[in-house]
Amino acid sequence: FSTISQISSQPSKPPSFGIAFDIDGVVLRGNTPIGGASRALRRLYDGSGVLKVPFVFLTNGGGIRESKRAAELSELLGVKISPSQVLQGHSPFKQLVNRFENELIVAVGKGEPAVVMSEYGFKNVISIDEYALYFDNIDPLAPYKKWGTIDFAVERTRKCSINSKRVQAAFIVSDSVDWSRDIQVLCDTLRTGGLPASEEGPQPPLYFAHDDLKYQGAFPSERLGMGAFRIALESVFNSIHAEALKYTYFGKLNPVAFKNAEVVLKQQASFIYRELNIVNHANSGSHDFQTLYMIGDNPAVDIKGARQARNPWFPILTRTGVFKGDHHSNYPEFPANMVVDTVEEAVDFILRNEH
Ligand code: G3P
Ligand code: MG
Repeated sequence: FSTISQISSQPSKPPSFGIAFDIDGVVLRGNTPIGGASRALRRLYDGSGVLKVPFVFLTNGGGIRESKRAAELSELLGVKISPSQVLQGHSPFKQLVNRFENELIVAVGKGEPAVVMSEYGFKNVISIDEYALYFDNIDPLAPYKKWGTIDFAVERTRKCSINSKRVQAAFIVSDSVDWSRDIQVLCDTLRTGGLPASEEGPQPPLYFAHDDLKYQGAFPSERLGMGAFRIALESVFNSIHAEALKYTYFGKLNPVAFKNAEVVLKQQASFIYRELNIVNHANSGSHDFQTLYMIGDNPAVDIKGARQARNPWFPILTRTGVFKGDHHSNYPEFPANMVVDTVEEAVDFILRNEH
């Protein structure tokens, strides 16, 4: 929070609230800001661009390092976002470093899943794109796929004989790009105790960054998400294997994601208070929020998750994404505390409510 160091030394009332913004369908659609997002976010900074309200992005999206995502968001939205303000579906994977630090693990998904995992501290991680190249003919459809094969300098890496080591865990970091190849290779790996083409063996742990069935991208109707891929993988695996697929998912709506967001928001609040010379609040984590606002577009994930996380979470549903109800409707199964047209309207309400 380098910018916070410039904050005025005049003591002022500490904010007793924080905000978690969903990204897809709330702040962005594809790479385009929506719903007055830039204007809304600017209101959380003072005139010199210094943060005055604790906020994070709590997104299930990913496949990119938090530092890189923060830089992208800063560019797209025109405000200074710090990497610690970016909480992605896969961010909690770092909690598993102790268990798998030196083990061979496979990372799946768009973007740079293996780079993300390496940054978290996993020392022996390989992307499924690269892993599949170690096994000739593992994907019989590969010759028909029009996209280019990534050059992983196979001849060099093959010497490491990864195709004789057992994979100890698979991590679905972001959306699978090639469902047919990934389902094939994951089934091969998971049913054999981590070594394709060997005898059946105990399933290595499988972790998903989240379980979103759908999300709002740039296309007018919702797109199939990681939860849809999970259903496909699970359905195939359970059809060819006697024991059902075992897996865990992190991200929203897992209560851990909301707890983690609360911890990060508390740390931000402490930075702000420290700079304001409000000494009693200076200890990290000592502050209790009266309200934490979750602004989301997906009732079954953002709103349900915030409701389950209970106090101090206050879910606000926008109409810019997955939820497309009319002006007077809420989502009956998991109603939000408030429904608004846009993220800007949500921030407007919060700032009025808090002053
Ligand atoms: O793949 C991303 C999508 O599942 C949801 O992203 O920002 O709406 O949580 P977000
Ligand atoms: Mg969303």
